[in-house]
Amino acid sequence: MDTPMNPEPNAAALDALTRSVIDRFAGAPDARLREVMGLLVKHLHAFAREARLTEAEWLQGIRFLTEVGQKCSGTRQEFILLSDILGLSMATVEINNGKPAGCTDATVFGPFHVEGAPRYDNGQDIANCAVGRPSRVRGRVLSRDGQAIAGATIEVWQADDEGMYDVQKEGLDHAQARGILQSRQDGSFDFRSVVPEPYPIPTDGPVGRLLEATRRSSWRPAHLHFMIKAEGYETLITHVFRRGDSYLEADPVFGVRESLVADWVPQADGSTLLDFDFILNPVGSRQAA
Ligand code: BEZ
Ligand code: FE
Repeated sequence: MDTPMNPEPNAAALDALTRSVIDRFAGAPDARLREVMGLLVKHLHAFAREARLTEAEWLQGIRFLTEVGQKCSGTRQEFILLSDILGLSMATVEINNGKPAGCTDATVFGPFHVEGAPRYDNGQDIANCAVGRPSRVRGRVLSRDGQAIAGATIEVWQADDEGMYDVQKEGLDHAQARGILQSRQDGSFDFRSVVPEPYPIPTDGPVGRLLEATRRSSWRPAHLHFMIKAEGYETLITHVFRRGDSYLEADPVFGVRESLVADWVPQADGSTLLDFDFILNPVGSRQAA
């Protein structure tokens, strides 16, 4: 894309154009839609101006976005992937999940959650034939003031030894390495599974080509996904990452937070143990931004 820059644009004409597009949304009855569209136009125009976008480049951009749309299907969301690698998904997580100190940080949801995961009792093995090194995971679900949260729903999903989620495996007709548990009276939970391994985000589409063209890594550091729900608390969507993973610094979706990196500690029986507590924020106790 090494094209020469356009000559100096007519700033007054561009200002007037931006203003008139924003004004065209002034009649929108929905005030929020009016506000969001106005800001979108303002920043899109500012981007085009600052980049001195050529017409050929914008056509290339439109072709790219068209391919992103064409890649989407019932099981593939290339637009979310684009939002992820641009850091926009993580930006919206940050904007909407500013919790008081002490609460567990949130991170991106990702595309591999599925509804209707199997339910397990504490202590059971959720691997369900997923291949990998055996591991145990235990922890507690607590309120910010340290109180145990009983009966919290803990949903977990993860990749296996080959960095694959069950939903990516053709022909597999049952859930693997995903499940739903409930915290006990003292807030504790535990389950067995396999150690998660790093994996590349899907690269067989336009987003993968963009990563390749910009020499960006597609590999996510190994992690477990958690979604934790409890009555009276904000739902927590997060990951726990494996300390020492060489991809922690270059997560293509910018989801890593230091507070979410933890040890899978080797055990005498050859397995590993992750011990991680989740601290939930009571509904209505958000700090002002
Ligand atoms: C995931 O962690 O499952 C994920 C997140 C963003 C993009 C692709 C995968
Ligand atoms: Fe993941």
